[in-house]
Amino acid sequence: MWNKVQETVKYLKNRGITRPDYGIILGTGLGNLVEKIDIDLAIPYADIPHFPVSTVAGHSGELIFGSIGGSKVIAMRGRFHYYEGWRMEEVVFPVRVMKYLGVEKMIVSNAAGGVNPNFKVGDIMLITDHINFLPEHPLRGENDERFGPRFVDMHEPYSLQMIADMEAVAARLSVSVHKGVYFGLQGPTFETPAEYRMVYRMGADAVGMSTVPEVITAKHMGMTCFGVSVITDLGIEGQVEVASHEEVQKVARKAEKVVGKLVETFIREASL
Ligand code: HPA
Repeated sequence: MWNKVQETVKYLKNRGITRPDYGIILGTGLGNLVEKIDIDLAIPYADIPHFPVSTVAGHSGELIFGSIGGSKVIAMRGRFHYYEGWRMEEVVFPVRVMKYLGVEKMIVSNAAGGVNPNFKVGDIMLITDHINFLPEHPLRGENDERFGPRFVDMHEPYSLQMIADMEAVAARLSVSVHKGVYFGLQGPTFETPAEYRMVYRMGADAVGMSTVPEVITAKHMGMTCFGVSVITDLGIEGQVEVASHEEVQKVARKAEKVVGKLVETFIREASL
């Protein structure tokens, strides 16, 4: 793994990528942030050594390097989900690469089902914490100390400072946001009513099929993380309706503009 990561990093550095300030995983809900980036380079995943290539409709695969205001960013347009069949080390490979390109701060977005009764479709949730229920752990197996320690501290998985800064940005832009706990499940099925109830009772506010492996891996390497969910459907008792990929994409595209604006403003202001 170490060697593969270093080979990929070398390739990307040779292509002209230099020390990005932020690594961004453009999940559902942040796709349009691409439009806010002054793009220097867009490299298809297929051209990048050792990079997986994503298969899900609506998740095209490109690594984008450029700037937002005074900050350099590297963005993954298209991410890898465990349910697609990737091994965990493949799911998190790009995060390892970002770290060795020099990224210290990671921003992740996703679509999620809301289980908190105060949530509505289209709402935005800043992730304060997560519960990992994926069936495999990205750090299982022999630990490579060059990446990080065997036992990883997770007392602040999502940066309290970045959450506070984002809340301030949201308030200024008059965007209301929730804060809450993200529950990571494998998918690809959406949850049954009983599973949504379990997720809520176990202490989460939203549930989805991504993000947790990437954040765990980022924390392994000492990175600072920020995550945001777009609530694309509800798993609230008595309000569980049909959830479909199309509906999720539709709601996410609407909310994207707002989430994109939040993240853009956040990065611009942080670089002033
Ligand atoms: N459950 C799991 N993943 C999701 C959901 C959901 O309800 N909505 C969007 N991604």
